[in-house]
Amino acid sequence: MSMTQEQLLLEMKKNPFLLAPMAAITDRAFRSFMREMGCGIVTTELVSANGLEYASEKTRRIMEFDEVQHPVGIQIFGERLDLLANAAKEVEQMGADFVDLNFGCPVPKVVKKGAGSAILKDLKQLVKVLRVVKSAVSIPVTMKTRTGWDEGSRNSDEVAQIAFDEGMTWLALHGRTRSKGYNGQADWDYLRWVKQNSPLPIIGNGDIASAAKAMQRLEESGCDAVMIGRGCLKNPWIFRESMALYTQSDSTVERDFLEALMKLRGHLERTSPDKITLLQIKKFSAWFSAGYPDSAKFRKSVFQIKDKDELIDNVYAYFQSLAGIQQRDTSHEAFLMGGHG
Ligand SMILES: Cc1cc2nc3c(=O)[nH]c(=O)nc-3n(C[C@H](O)[C@H](O)[C@H](O)COP(=O)(O)O)c2cc1C
Repeated sequence: MSMTQEQLLLEMKKNPFLLAPMAAITDRAFRSFMREMGCGIVTTELVSANGLEYASEKTRRIMEFDEVQHPVGIQIFGERLDLLANAAKEVEQMGADFVDLNFGCPVPKVVKKGAGSAILKDLKQLVKVLRVVKSAVSIPVTMKTRTGWDEGSRNSDEVAQIAFDEGMTWLALHGRTRSKGYNGQADWDYLRWVKQNSPLPIIGNGDIASAAKAMQRLEESGCDAVMIGRGCLKNPWIFRESMALYTQSDSTVERDFLEALMKLRGHLERTSPDKITLLQIKKFSAWFSAGYPDSAKFRKSVFQIKDKDELIDNVYAYFQSLAGIQQRDTSHEAFLMGGHG
């Protein structure tokens, strides 16, 4: 049974810490893992409406999700109105709870065609896209974008008004312009201003690397929810810790990287080909090792391993050797400075 806009917003109020979509990271396995680790609403990575038209098997696989992920949205992007409408219909047929539109992707190959964040320079086209997608489906439609094309043309207030007028359920905003890429800091003062002037629920996003920061951003910006992306890659407990603060629970969250990795491994083995499982375990064990002794050496060694059992043995040996060692805080260090939103 599909959710109404009101039900979806209620879910967001219950847990206002959403998982930000990240291509090749927040896949089916990772989203189920994060739900288990306490995150709120999840969204798939961006799916090409053009790719769907050409019936790409790989594109369709990105759209698959597990039942535990509800509420789950599927994010689509593209420049052709007819293909976006078809893609939205397919999202609805798959049983997702909402269609999310990607208007944040800064990648040159995407913006050159007028997709992703390029729409921020053409709000007439934005209206057309929202209208065509909204009328193609009866499930809620949401959108995620940046604060503007460049520093001189920030326009989230106008974008929020348009999104409201066209019946979007929320606007998720990564607090950087397209021209900023992943440099500098997300501008939360601007997000606060947008929220104050917006008739539509606003989800703030950018640079949240701890539960304390998540709570602070939520409270100070007044946003209806916050989205966390890179922050959960080094700290997969960030959602559970944020919820503990939000609900003022005094239960402490135990951190055990090995246990977390093995949970993720289980989801990967259930949903993904061996090649992907191997790659994801390498990536996550490398990220989890940040701030521990010899992490650079460990990272280098795991990426050379080709056999899954050997990889698991190495991961076990490394993380077991860390028992009792304090992890250094690396949240201020530059991390994954590129993506599709
Ligand atoms: C590797 C990577 C891939 C991303 N892929 C997507 C995507 O598919 N769709 C999207 O809307 N945003 C994407 N993003 C942007 C994130 O959702 C988020 O807006 C951004 O990383 C800032 O939030 P954070 O500082 O919490 O990571 C991606 C980001 C990264 C780092």
